[in-house]
Formats: sequence, structure tokens, C-alpha cells
Amino acid sequence: MKVLVTGGAGFIGSHLVDRLLTRNDRVLVIDNYTTGRRDNLTPHPSLTVVEGSITDRDLVDRVFGDFAPERVVHAAASYKDPDNWAEDSRTNVVGTANVVQASKAAGVGRLIYFQTALCYGLQPLEQPITLDHPLLPQGSSYAISKTAGEYYVRLSGLDWVSFRLANAYGPRNLSGPLPTFYHRLTTGKPCFVMDTRRDFIFVDDLIDVVLRALSGRGRLGPYHVSSGSDVSIKELFDATLKALHLTLDRAVEVRPRSADDVYTILLDPSKTNADFAWRVSTPLETGVAAAIDWYKRFGIQQTFTHLKLGGEQK
Ligand SMILES: NC(=O)c1ccc[n+]([C@@H]2O[C@H](COP(=O)([O-])OP(=O)(O)OC[C@H]3O[C@@H](n4cnc5c(N)ncnc54)[C@H](O)[C@@H]3O)[C@@H](O)[C@H]2O)c1
Repeated sequence: MKVLVTGGAGFIGSHLVDRLLTRNDRVLVIDNYTTGRRDNLTPHPSLTVVEGSITDRDLVDRVFGDFAPERVVHAAASYKDPDNWAEDSRTNVVGTANVVQASKAAGVGRLIYFQTALCYGLQPLEQPITLDHPLLPQGSSYAISKTAGEYYVRLSGLDWVSFRLANAYGPRNLSGPLPTFYHRLTTGKPCFVMDTRRDFIFVDDLIDVVLRALSGRGRLGPYHVSSGSDVSIKELFDATLKALHLTLDRAVEVRPRSADDVYTILLDPSKTNADFAWRVSTPLETGVAAAIDWYKRFGIQQTFTHLKLGGEQK
């Protein structure tokens, strides 16, 4: 199969590329390395990497025309500066529109999109969140622009699947609490954890369901990719300590959550479990150990967040 992966040098995209290459697919990546890393991708005879932006309509049309992909996985996104609304709009709205229209022109058989759980708002109305929950992205530029992008995917008339994701983690992940804990613990800086819970999904489990969607399983529409159960940030921190074989002199500080921080975010994965015959299988400690192993080998030059929180540890 010929698969075009936007954002293929990023965390999720590069894991997908690795798996596609091992099953002998031909893969083309477009990435501008805003948050991706060149060393996330290993040269391979079936891999073509185009450095450029999906906001460049001529480039996108040319690349789609030359490669003629059968499937598209649209993983490129802008999120690293919560105040850079223009870049979020350019990449997540205009860039997505470019990718969608080029996919239509190329006769792509299915387009896969990744959506943030923030599309349900900073304070979702129910837990676990079902697919019937209204879209309320107004709390962040990232969510607004990703939701507009998802609407363009919907409008396309293509066969599409939008995976709305819990917190993905694993090797090459540079956002969220795990890389921050690693960085601080290995540079002797103090840490604190928020008194909140989140639903974490190991990247290999996520790629399993993406591959099933690429082979035609599932129906057009949105799906939740999540474990369906939450863990406390303290548990994630403890798993990080264990993977690093560290013990602290005193217990880590647990800070009360701020007014705009939601206690838990739980996505209901039942439709995904049923339609894809899929569920999360990697235990937290195994996944955290794999991520820590990668941080040790490759290092962390920088970490990213789409959040704008006063208490963020940098
Ligand atoms: N990681 C998560 O927990 C999570 C949760 C919800 C949704 N998502 C979505 O999953 C997708 C992949 O996220 P990720 O975690 O791998 O992030 P990532 O930052 O590692 O990957 C995004 C990639 O897109 C590239 N990119 C950014 N702007 C671009 C542009 N204009 N043109 C071309 N490439 C561009 C970046 O360089 C990067 O390689 C994104 O669409 C994101 O919104 C991720």
C-alpha cells in the first residue's frame, strides 16, 4: 500500500512509519520539523521524506500528484505555542484543508485524522466522555483549530476516520508530564505532581488501531482511542522513578489542581473496542520503561506543551 503520512517525523507519525515499512508499504512523509526530529526516521528504500509545510498548497498538490497515495494519515499539527493562533490556524486549518483537498484529487481511499480530547472543552460535561458529547473547543487555540480541521475532514466526502486521543506516551514523546519528569529527575531538579488523573495510551497500542483502520476496519466517523481507565499523575511519576531505579529522600509534593484544571479526562472507547476488535494491552510500567529507555539513549533537547498553566514545571 502507498501511505502518505503528514507529520511523519513526529512522535506518533514516526512510529506509524516504522510499522508501515516493516510490512513492506511504500511511505511518503511531509514534515517541517517544527516539533518533529530528523533522527525519528531511519532511511529506508521504501521511505521518501519531503521537508516542507502542509500550508504550502503547491507543494502539497505536487507531492500528492507524484506519489498518488492510496491512504493518508494526517498527523501534522501545530500546538507548541498556545499564543501563536496564526500558526495553529495555518497548519491545523489551512494545512488540513490542503491535505483534504489533495486527498480528494488523488482519489485517496481513506484519510485518518487525529483529534485532541480538548475538543470536548476544558471541563467536559460527562465522565467517561461519549462520542455524543458536544464539541466545545473554545478553551484553546489548539482545540479550536484541530476541531475546524476535523470539520474539513468531515466535509470532504472522503472515507475518513478521526481518532480522538487520550494522552499518548512512549519513546519519542516530547509533550505531557513524562518527558518533564524524566528531564527534571535526571538533572536534579525538584518535581511536583498535580492531584489529577488522566487516561494514558502507549503509542504501540495506538498504532495497532491505526493499522486496522488503514486496512479498512471501522466505519467513517470519529472514534476514541483510550484505555477507558485513568491513572493518577502520582502513579505516572512513581512508574518513572521505578524505570530510573530512583528513590527520593521524601515523598513527591502533590499539588491541588487549579480551578481550570479538570480532575480527570476519560474517553469512552467502547465503539473502538467493538468495531476494531481492539483494546489497550500495554501496562503503564512497561510503557513508561520503554519511554525512559528512549530518553536515556537519545536525550531530550526540548519538550512541548499546548497548555497554558501557571503551575507548569519547565
Ligand atoms: N500525543 C498526543 O497525546 C496527542 C493527543 C491528541 C491528538 N494528537 C494529535 O496527533 C497528531 C500527532 O501528534 P504527536 O504527538 O505525534 O505530535 P508531534 O509534534 O510529535 O508531531 C507533529 C508533527 O507535525 C509536524 N508539523 C507541524 N507543523 C507542520 C506543518 N505546517 N507542515 C508539516 N509538518 C508539520 C511536526 O514537525 C511534527 O513532526 C497531531 O495531529 C496531534 O494534534 C496527539
